[in-house]
Amino acid sequence: MSDKQQGFSSSFGAIMAAVGSAVGLGNIWRFPYIMGQYGGGAFLLVYLAFVFLIGMVLMMTEFVIGRRSQHTPAKAFVYNRPDRKGWRFLGYLCVFTCLMIISQYVVLSGWTTNYIVDSATGTLASLQTSEIGTHFSNFITHPWLPVMYLIIFTVITAVIILGGVQKGIEAVSKVLMPVLLVLVLVLCVRSITLPNSSVGLSYLFSPDFSKLSGEGVLAALGQALFSLSVGMGTMIVYGSYIPANDNIFKTAMLITASDTLIAVLAGVAIFPAVFSFGQDPASGPGLVFQVLPTVFNSMGGIGTVFAVMFFFLLALAALTSAISLLETIVAWLCESSSVNRYKSTIIVTLVVLAVGSVCALSDGLLSGVKILNKSIFGFVDDLNSIYLPPICAIGTVIFFGWQMKKEDIIDELSNHGALKIGYFKAFYFLVRYVAPIALLVVLFTSIYASLFPNN
Ligand code: TRP
Repeated sequence: MSDKQQGFSSSFGAIMAAVGSAVGLGNIWRFPYIMGQYGGGAFLLVYLAFVFLIGMVLMMTEFVIGRRSQHTPAKAFVYNRPDRKGWRFLGYLCVFTCLMIISQYVVLSGWTTNYIVDSATGTLASLQTSEIGTHFSNFITHPWLPVMYLIIFTVITAVIILGGVQKGIEAVSKVLMPVLLVLVLVLCVRSITLPNSSVGLSYLFSPDFSKLSGEGVLAALGQALFSLSVGMGTMIVYGSYIPANDNIFKTAMLITASDTLIAVLAGVAIFPAVFSFGQDPASGPGLVFQVLPTVFNSMGGIGTVFAVMFFFLLALAALTSAISLLETIVAWLCESSSVNRYKSTIIVTLVVLAVGSVCALSDGLLSGVKILNKSIFGFVDDLNSIYLPPICAIGTVIFFGWQMKKEDIIDELSNHGALKIGYFKAFYFLVRYVAPIALLVVLFTSIYASLFPNN
């Protein structure tokens, strides 16, 4: 970094910022619908195992790489293995992955921002159930509205990044995360006090192993990594900001547990309500944007309040995640060039706006453009869900488990000998063997499934 490296000012701030990164659209928009799709409680059990055995382990590797080096991806890898400069390419790949993810993320976040406005102005409430789907598709195919909302969302994110690590990211996360928890709890209470809510709860929690399938297991691992924001260098950057005397194991444990709790609470806020109003729980990605508005409308006048609250919650979650993605790229650019933090933020924001807008228009103005037979959004989605994240994650665990010195890892995890790290053997085994094998299986199976969709 051109300005002297400045990290988070407190352990609480560091944890809130990292929880902010982890809790995002992945928890509130994605987790509930895939949990519903793959057998509720059965999926949850597998997910919990992956989150703690692989996701959290990966988070610790990134924190160690980042905090030890005090660098961003690229230099962070080389610092930990100075004789193998080639590892910097893994850093570049991580940064590129963050760019692709944020470009898609701001599109969805723009939709969410639009839904706050549409629910606050009563537009959503005025629609008949049959019109809600059309309203959604008219919006996403509109020639400029999705771009306008994307710009609003991205600019807010950029302004926070301009505030800096402590006064921007940390200050905002310390306020927004508790607010988010309160909002989700209020929505949970509303949902479980509706008539017949127990049907929704049992759909969510009673394990149906017949619906799990191999595909569900793979989805659980992919979701675990995405939800924890690991495997893309983001936690390397945040790791470099973690105070030197924080316990990395405890920090990672708290973040992982909070992220999982919020995902489950989001399910509790959504499914009982969906069942109570006789809607389709397995509607997939459209659950939040098409099914929930119907649910809110069925609640009568007060539904508007819950609708605004819900979309606001989703936007807050998205904001703190977008911050971490943008920060990763900005911090990298500052460190690898002579451009200062302010200019880096402007440059990266412009790039994100450009790539994001192209994605946002892919269902509308640019719907004729195809890459490898897919819409632009579909292509970026494939990159982000099938290829880039597992490749970066495999690179990271192999680097950590097989390239970094074991003594250096022990030194960093134990805060130079101050802490006992009784878990080390199990941890090291997970990083060296279990994580790379599991990730390779995910990578190859999902590439195979995308190339031969009918098998
Ligand atoms: N974890 C976020 C979510 O659940 C998404 C996210 C933010 C992310 N930063 C990331 C995913 C970095 C991977 C890498 O929505």
